[in-house]
Amino acid sequence: MCGIVGYTGCKKAAPILMKGLQKLEYRGYDSAGIAVGRDHKIDVIKKEGKLDKLKEKLKSSMLEGKTGIGHTRWATHGRPSDRNSHPHFDEKQQFIVVHNGIIENYQELKEELKNKGYQFSSETDTEVIPHLLSEYYNGDLRDAILKVVEKLVGSYALAVMYSREPERIFAVRQDSPLVVGRGAEGENYIASDIPAFLEFTDDFYILDDGEIAEVSAGEINIFNSSGQQINKDIFEVDWDAEMAEKNGYSHYMLKEIHEQPDALRKIMKNRVSPGKIDLTEIAFPERIDDIQIVACGTASYAGRVGKYVLEELTRIPVQVNIASEFRYSDPILGENTLVIVVSQSGETADTLAGLRLAQKKGARVLALTNVVGSSIDREADQVLYLRAGPEIAVASTKAYSAMVTSFYMLGLFLGKQEGIISESKGKEMLQNLLCLPELASRVIEENEKTVKHLADRFQNCEHAFFIGRNTDYSLALEGALKLKEISYIHAEAYAAGELKHGTLALVEEGVPVVAIATRKGILDKMMSNIKEVKARGAEVIAVTYSDVKNVAEEADYIINIPEIEGIFSGVLTIIPLQLMAYYTALKRGCNVDQPRNLAKSVTVE
Ligand code: F6R
Repeated sequence: MCGIVGYTGCKKAAPILMKGLQKLEYRGYDSAGIAVGRDHKIDVIKKEGKLDKLKEKLKSSMLEGKTGIGHTRWATHGRPSDRNSHPHFDEKQQFIVVHNGIIENYQELKEELKNKGYQFSSETDTEVIPHLLSEYYNGDLRDAILKVVEKLVGSYALAVMYSREPERIFAVRQDSPLVVGRGAEGENYIASDIPAFLEFTDDFYILDDGEIAEVSAGEINIFNSSGQQINKDIFEVDWDAEMAEKNGYSHYMLKEIHEQPDALRKIMKNRVSPGKIDLTEIAFPERIDDIQIVACGTASYAGRVGKYVLEELTRIPVQVNIASEFRYSDPILGENTLVIVVSQSGETADTLAGLRLAQKKGARVLALTNVVGSSIDREADQVLYLRAGPEIAVASTKAYSAMVTSFYMLGLFLGKQEGIISESKGKEMLQNLLCLPELASRVIEENEKTVKHLADRFQNCEHAFFIGRNTDYSLALEGALKLKEISYIHAEAYAAGELKHGTLALVEEGVPVVAIATRKGILDKMMSNIKEVKARGAEVIAVTYSDVKNVAEEADYIINIPEIEGIFSGVLTIIPLQLMAYYTALKRGCNVDQPRNLAKSVTVE
């Protein structure tokens, strides 16, 4: 949802800004631009398209300045074009701004400004900001920014420069992420997200809503919304720059799929051991009457697995809510409701709003998130970190597996606490959990060849269906999402028993149907559904255990996963489906890491 960067120091700013933007390209990639200050002047270069186009344009320009800001855009207001790309200037070309977020009252502000004679050169909501700065500036830029943000309704992370003070950057945020990096002596950074400048520093200030940072090469000063200087703690990041690189893989997505066994080990470290599960890091409410899970996209599909897991292991009723719906509903949350928000980035606007609504209604919120220091991390009452390391590919893979594993851990911990799981059953289940990393490695090793073949076979199909029952249905939803978001093949997931109530009409000769059959108690039911689609000419790809002979006999293609206790099959099942989506997208020539119209961190509604 747009990435912003800033650098001020002793080196030429442009190459450093470009490096930062490259790391943030997952946040948006329809246009990009940078602005660099020098001698009371700010030079701006921007270009529609991916960052490479901007890089090309930069070759023929001389940007010598040592302070600058940059932006990679995911269009919200105004289609992708050079004109709508950031940074945006005021008319006199004195104030320059990059913005991540949405200014909801921009129409009203634009009208006011137009009536005063200001002329606009883009269709963006952002452009009101530099004009407002020009209107309010009275010798002190910080003061002007504070006045301007008072007028803004919506979400924003802003970086601002002024041509008369071209060696300073101001950064301010409201409901959009922003960090300030403290570099080696005489160099400082700002960015939407930490990986932008991990190569240069591990030390970051994480700005809170309303705070404003004044950043120059020599110092970083942070003020609250009343303009008083405040002291903030440095947040030291324990990710290293390499973790945010491709490390020899052709795409981040492939790397992140392969990182899953390790991610599973990390999430369980010091939490799960033979015979023991320790989640004392979380202060659970004494009594939990019901659980509400709130999340978007892949995180919500992990939540759907979570519902089955938690209900089976704890017997506490669980509801899963899409955050964008939840936030505009009037949910019934009691004081004994536990709300679990799930978010890789910790910045998804709808999920954050859901968290705030739940707290307003008196519920306690537990967050499952991957990003330490994110808004959701800071605002939730309790946090269980996913520890999956940086996830850069737009399509989520390792974070999903970590989310599902968190639900296994929560289910086992609460199930034991509630007295639902016996000591011996608990031990057996923990053993299953501890086997997951090893088994996940096996799944990758044993299935890569099969899924490549399937990608070859089905690369030209227009539609695909994914079916399953119970947790396998939740996995079908995630499998279908992976395929459609990166390969652009229309994929639908159905609860297998629901197909005959309408959707079966779409199944015809040669349509691929991925049938997930890992829940042993209901395999016969899945068999009937497989037969139903086969009878209509579907080509069935079954994901199941090697000993499930009847499914293997009926299916056209088999993806085998290692035998594991029913509820724990989720992580193993999703891996071949992620790989299948990856290789299909690759065959179709799609941009796997940066699918069209999408962005990694959805910080707008
Ligand atoms: C799909 C995907 C998205 C995200 C969703 C929520 O692969 O990644 O559907 O899951 O945008 O993002 P987070 O988890 O950051 O809240």
